Order: sequence, then C-alpha cells, then structure tokens
Amino acid sequence: MYGMKADYKNWMPKGMIWSFLGGAVLSLALCLLLRNIKWLAILLAVIAVFFGGLTVWSILMYRAFSYNGRRRMSAQIIEGTAARVKLPAGGKCLDVGCGSGALAIAVAKRNPQAQIVGIDRWGAEYASFNRALCERNAQAEGVGNTSFRQGDATHLDFPDGSFDAVVSNYVYHNIPGDRQAYLLETLRTLKQGGTFALHDIFSKARYGDMQEFVRKLKEMGYQKVELIDTTDGAFMTPFEVRWMALSGSALLVGIK
Ligand SMILES: C[S@@+](CC[C@H](N)C(=O)[O-])C[C@H]1O[C@@H](n2cnc3c(N)ncnc32)[C@H](O)[C@@H]1O
Repeated sequence: MYGMKADYKNWMPKGMIWSFLGGAVLSLALCLLLRNIKWLAILLAVIAVFFGGLTVWSILMYRAFSYNGRRRMSAQIIEGTAARVKLPAGGKCLDVGCGSGALAIAVAKRNPQAQIVGIDRWGAEYASFNRALCERNAQAEGVGNTSFRQGDATHLDFPDGSFDAVVSNYVYHNIPGDRQAYLLETLRTLKQGGTFALHDIFSKARYGDMQEFVRKLKEMGYQKVELIDTTDGAFMTPFEVRWMALSGSALLVGIK
C-alpha cells in the first residue's frame, strides 16, 4: 500500500533487553541498599555487572539484526534462504514459524505466480510478532499471494504432501524436544519432488547428529540433501557467529 512501510520487528525481543536492564538496575539498587552487609553487596555487584553485560550484548544483537540498521543480518539471512526456492505456477509454499512474515513475503516476491502460507504459534517470547503484523507487512510490500494463520510447528495442520516447497528460519531451536522429529514433521507436508530450505542453529547440543540425519533423509529417498554452513560469511562472519552465539547456523536443503 502506498506510503506504508513493512516493519519486520527484531529477532532479539525488546522485552528481553528490558528484563536484562531491569535485572542490572535492581541488583545495583539492592547492592547500594545493603552495602553494610559486605558479602551480600559484593554478590549483588557481581550480579549487576552480569546483567549489565547481558544488556549491552542484547542491544548489540538488536542492532545487528535490525532491518533499519547498517548490518541488516536478518535481511541477508531471509533473502539467502528465499533464494533457494523456485515455485511452479500455482505452486504452494509453507513458511514454518513465519514470525512477522519476512521469509514468506520474500518467497512470495520471488514467486508471484505461487501461494505462500505462513504459520506461527505467535505470542510467548516474541510478543511483537502476530498475524495482523504479517498481513500488514504483505500489504506494505505490495504482495498479494501470502496468507497467514496460527499453527504449531510440532504438529502441522496440513495433510501429507500439501506443498511444493517448505521454508523456515530460526524456529525449531526455540522449541524444546526432539528437533529432528520437528524437521520430519515439516517435510511430511512436502510433495514428492518438492524443495526444502530450512535455516536454523543445527548445533549438536540442540539437534544431535545432523550428518546422520542427512544420511537418513538420503536413505528415505530425498535428493540433493545438504547441510550448508552459513557461518563462513554466507549469512554471517565467523566473528559474528562467536559474539552472537549463532554457532551451528546452517541451511538444510534438498528435494523430496
Ligand atoms: C526468531 S523468530 C523467527 C521468525 C521468522 N521465521 C523470521 O525469520 O523472521 C522465531 C519464531 O518461531 C516461532 N515459534 C516458536 N515455536 C513455535 C512453534 N512450536 N510453532 C510455530 N512457531 C513457533 C515464534 O513464535 C517466532 O515467531
């Protein structure tokens, strides 16, 4: 819509920044109040420094991710993931955990002849993401081939083989439990011959052995399955990976 600008918000929730700042201020205030009890004052000072550090770190994260800042890492990841998807005319794509709609809209722009469905559970820690925001962003971008609805990545409300492509970015690592099972649940909804491009933090601690998972997909008949490292400068630099705690970021791609 003319004059409207998309607002994709930020993957670093503002609420988290405020909580860290609150923790720093509160522990500092208690430290000053209880300064006569030396050991307690020292402990509270250490806690204040810890929360102060987290506050600075989260603000720097916010700036690096921001769509309005100089770095625009989120935009780089979204565009890099969307570029993996080519949909046939009349094709359908699912974006799992669509947040503020950025990836669904980027895929929709590149594939104007297809329909993109974004699902998200919304609420919880990402309080600023919601369905109305996704719809406003699609409108602001002049995109008419998206739709958004409430859904759960762990139990998708779609029959097997519903989509020609499935995409997702930085979603499954947020969900506790068997993350390889969540990937299989997403792939269940993909048609035979359909494409997948799933970006996440595929660290061993979160996912277990992903090389084994890649082998398993190949045994199941999936083709061109690859886990592409995105921490080598493709989406982020090795230095950013370290300070932003994004180690293990990769794109799982292939064809069913
Ligand atoms: C870091 S944000 C990424 C949003 C979006 N994919 C993007 O790239 O801008 C993570 C998203 O995952 C969603 N999410 C977390 N658990 C979910 C679940 N079980 N089902 C659906 N969405 C979920 C959150 O609501 C949030 O919108």
